[in-house]
Amino acid sequence: MTEHSDRHVSPNMALDQLVARRRAEGARIVHLGFGESGLPVFPPLVERLTAGAGRNGYGPVAGAPDVRAAVAGYFSRRGTPTDPEQVVMAPGSKPLLMALQQVLPGDLVLPAPAWNTYAPQAELAGKAVVRVPIPAECGGVPEPAALRAAVRAARAAGRRPGILVLTLPDNPTGTLAGPRLVTELCAVAAEEELTVVSDEIYRDLVHDPARPFLSPAEVLPERTIVLTGLSKNLALGGWRIGAARFPAGAWGRAVRDRVTGYASEVWSTLAGPMQEVAAYAFAEPPELRAHLAASTRLHGAVARAVHRIVLDSGADCRAPQAGFYLYPDYGPLREELAAHGVGDSAGLQHHLLDRAGIAVLAGHHLGDDPGALRLRIATSKLYGETAAEQWQALESADPAALPQVARQLDVIERGLCALAVAPRGARAAQRPA
Ligand SMILES: Cc1ncc(COP(=O)(O)O)c(C=O)c1O
Repeated sequence: MTEHSDRHVSPNMALDQLVARRRAEGARIVHLGFGESGLPVFPPLVERLTAGAGRNGYGPVAGAPDVRAAVAGYFSRRGTPTDPEQVVMAPGSKPLLMALQQVLPGDLVLPAPAWNTYAPQAELAGKAVVRVPIPAECGGVPEPAALRAAVRAARAAGRRPGILVLTLPDNPTGTLAGPRLVTELCAVAAEEELTVVSDEIYRDLVHDPARPFLSPAEVLPERTIVLTGLSKNLALGGWRIGAARFPAGAWGRAVRDRVTGYASEVWSTLAGPMQEVAAYAFAEPPELRAHLAASTRLHGAVARAVHRIVLDSGADCRAPQAGFYLYPDYGPLREELAAHGVGDSAGLQHHLLDRAGIAVLAGHHLGDDPGALRLRIATSKLYGETAAEQWQALESADPAALPQVARQLDVIERGLCALAVAPRGARAAQRPA
């Protein structure tokens, strides 16, 4: 397989495969390019999976009653009282997002940057994408005044903006929009008659448990659909468990029914053993909460360690607040990078992979300006190669100091700090005659 044969694969997945191939060829690469929680499976989840092996019937399309009740409880404990009827389960939140793009009318409005799957899904569903820049303080949401202006300009140009996707907390910036911003955005969404799709898959990974979280479903309950899943908080990406919460009332029921109809033709139902896992996980027993708290502490500690390196290397970067991402801007080093032959985000991604052995995802893959020198760093695969190392990281009071983590932080520091140092020939060439 050549590297180019992957060009239709999602860029983060293509990069992950490229890293795997280069590693198989003997290259040493620090992998900061894939947003997968590099943690082992929590053992009670394995027990539930095994216990669920007998669930071999198809079962209801939207999910079994016990699972939908557990998910309704999960949402109800988070300030959004939910009836099990409002819940639909799926093999991951990605198919639910796709179903929503298929059944909801109108074009898609996205923050720029945003997770790399939203826009290609819109394209598959025959929708146009309207991009709106994020505010200075955080990502995952558009700046409210810019949102209003962009929606109106899009309408004037013949587009039909209809769906606003918000990512709370955000991939790629690792930040969480605060309640004031969410309230303002919901006011604009109501005014402009947009349906809000709130992707809250990182909600349980907010580093500071005291940080306030306001879901658009609390502000604009009648027109907000919330998505969540177990891929990130419980490191179960490969198990494929996602859930959607639809609004109560006639409109919410109609959208839910259309999504369920779509599901019945595409994935039928969430796999039976996964329903057993979901019923346990969404009920959030104390041991699971403790595991989640340890995971969140680890993600926060390592993201903060990499953030310090990123700032030292000369980039601007928002401080991480949730999940396991950073979104540095190397604009301040534009001149130094030009001396390395790097002038855009694609060049920066290639330079870091080829010269420093560091895999990152360039910002243009996330809908950002290709000429900007921004990139996404995922810090979640730095905890160790083996499950034993990862458990050690989970239990450590200072995970950044563990040898398996510190070794990789050194490579990152050397690689990123070298960006500010012009290559010798370039320096000589720049010197005035
Ligand atoms: C913002 C966001 N939403 C959804 C997903 C996909 O999750 P799932 O595994 O539930 O399909 C991801 C995974 O990277 C993500 O970052």
